[in-house]
Amino acid sequence: MLTRRRIHELVHEYGHDVLGHERMRIEKHCYQHGAVTTFEHSVRVACLAVYFADRLRLWRFVDLRSLIRAALLHDYFLYDWHHDDNGSHRLHGFTHPRRALDNALEDFDLNPVERDSILRHMFPLTPIPPRYVEGYLVTMADKISATRETFSLDRFSKPALGPVPERHALTDGKGQAA
Ligand SMILES: [Fe+2]
Ligand SMILES: [Fe+2]
Repeated sequence: MLTRRRIHELVHEYGHDVLGHERMRIEKHCYQHGAVTTFEHSVRVACLAVYFADRLRLWRFVDLRSLIRAALLHDYFLYDWHHDDNGSHRLHGFTHPRRALDNALEDFDLNPVERDSILRHMFPLTPIPPRYVEGYLVTMADKISATRETFSLDRFSKPALGPVPERHALTDGKGQAA
């Protein structure tokens, strides 16, 4: 059985290029749920997805690298959704998986498991289910993390985050000014 510490190490080992990418900085400036940034949320989802795969003894069916990368990129939509669609947030739940996938494809080479798991992670809000076990693990870990984060008492003491970095100040995956 994997320890918490080992799970954390694995996420950083297999996800180092994603975690270190220039555009991931945007996620550190956006709250996702409660007082948790999108970056922290993505790391939590990756750790929890690995935890479930391990405790449910799914390793024969799961590609660890794909699972971690899909989890880290599942919310790579790169904006603060609290400020999106005039504050109504009505469309974000439906539209952000596609936006996350499109952004992720600009920055990373993704295999079919990673693509599908990002695109389908809002199931059953979005009607098409994930195609792979990795996708089910991501969607399950996401819902549990989101619920915990949303109802945490920390949400009442949110520190102010710095402004979201301007996109033109960031570089794309090829090191070019975007
Ligand atoms: Fe999401
Ligand atoms: Fe999420």
